[in-house]
Amino acid sequence: MDENVKRMLDVSFSATMRISKLATEMEEGGEDIISLAVGEPDFDTPEFIIEAANEAMKKGFTHYTPPSGISELREAIAEKMKEDNDLDFTSDNVLVTPTKHALFMSVLAHLDDGAEVILPDPAWVSYGPIVKFADGILRRVPAHGEEFELKQESLEDAISSRTEMIILNSPSNPTGKMLNKEERKIIRDLAVDNDLKVVTDEVYEKLVFEGEHVSLASMDGMRERTITVNGFSKAYAMTGWRIGWLACTEDMLENIVKIQTHSITCATSFAQKAAYRALVEEWKSERALESMMDKYRERRELMLERLDEIEGFTCRKPESTFYTFPKYEFDKDSMEMSMYLLRKAKVATTPGSAFGDRGENHLRLSFANSKENIQEAMDRIEKAVEKL
Ligand SMILES: Cc1ncc(COP(=O)(O)O)c(C=O)c1O
Repeated sequence: MDENVKRMLDVSFSATMRISKLATEMEEGGEDIISLAVGEPDFDTPEFIIEAANEAMKKGFTHYTPPSGISELREAIAEKMKEDNDLDFTSDNVLVTPTKHALFMSVLAHLDDGAEVILPDPAWVSYGPIVKFADGILRRVPAHGEEFELKQESLEDAISSRTEMIILNSPSNPTGKMLNKEERKIIRDLAVDNDLKVVTDEVYEKLVFEGEHVSLASMDGMRERTITVNGFSKAYAMTGWRIGWLACTEDMLENIVKIQTHSITCATSFAQKAAYRALVEEWKSERALESMMDKYRERRELMLERLDEIEGFTCRKPESTFYTFPKYEFDKDSMEMSMYLLRKAKVATTPGSAFGDRGENHLRLSFANSKENIQEAMDRIEKAVEKL
């Protein structure tokens, strides 16, 4: 490893990689591991989306596209955002790119060296490294209690003269929580009063069981400062396709397009055609999504019921995503707890500390798995923790 690249010193492989590496080794050694650690739908991409990519490839749609993406997809995204999210954007405000790359570019293009970024704790594992790669400085703001509420006072305490940006993720990975009306207002006021740029990751938008998803950019004074990031991975079971989008003012988009042009050039051409088909055929009817959501809903109930029965665990009901984020009361930190469950119960979980200090004493359990596997995994966990 090159020890001299300063930018890399502060970024390590995620703690979760240690768990998945060990889980893979155990599986290769013939052990029967159930993984509740995966961050993707267990469903395959719906057939009609695959067909769209096949058709595109057969027709020779295998070349570069414009950097921002094909116009029909950008138009469909703009229309979707208008109807679903109350955002007045046209295709000129939309850039098609993998979701994670959208987040990278949003931060890289809009953060000065040494500027500060506010990030709630807990939060998804990659925001921190993204800010560090952009030579920014993270200010983590702990969410309060087991409802993981964002409080005005804690957010204000984190603001300094160098604060330039706030990153938000609602619905949230790992907690499954959506920002409520009061929190949205606090964030809006904070951003407007301090002239902050806002990066909002709404990739779990479609996986909502209760309540309503509201895009931050639709709030008064937010459109001109907010980059909204979304994608096809979670809603349409398209993680491997690497396709998503971002939307913001044309002014904000300019620097982002520079990065896209000089990094990946454009998103994969036939994946764009498939994403277009997913949007126009699926978005209005949501048939494939609904059938996935029915399954997620049942699995969520099952996992919550089982967690409720196991002594030492408590869990808020996630209103969205396919994660639960239970708190436990055993004398082990979350990395040790995850390792223990992997070795003793042969169940892979994600340690809560991977998402920040506030995630300590929690585990993230994904219910993007069959009911049989969830049932079996919970049986094994129950048995393993009896010994603690
Ligand atoms: C909150 C969040 N944002 C972004 C991503 C990245 O999405 P994609 O894999 O589509 O780039 C993930 C993936 O797990 C995620 O959980």
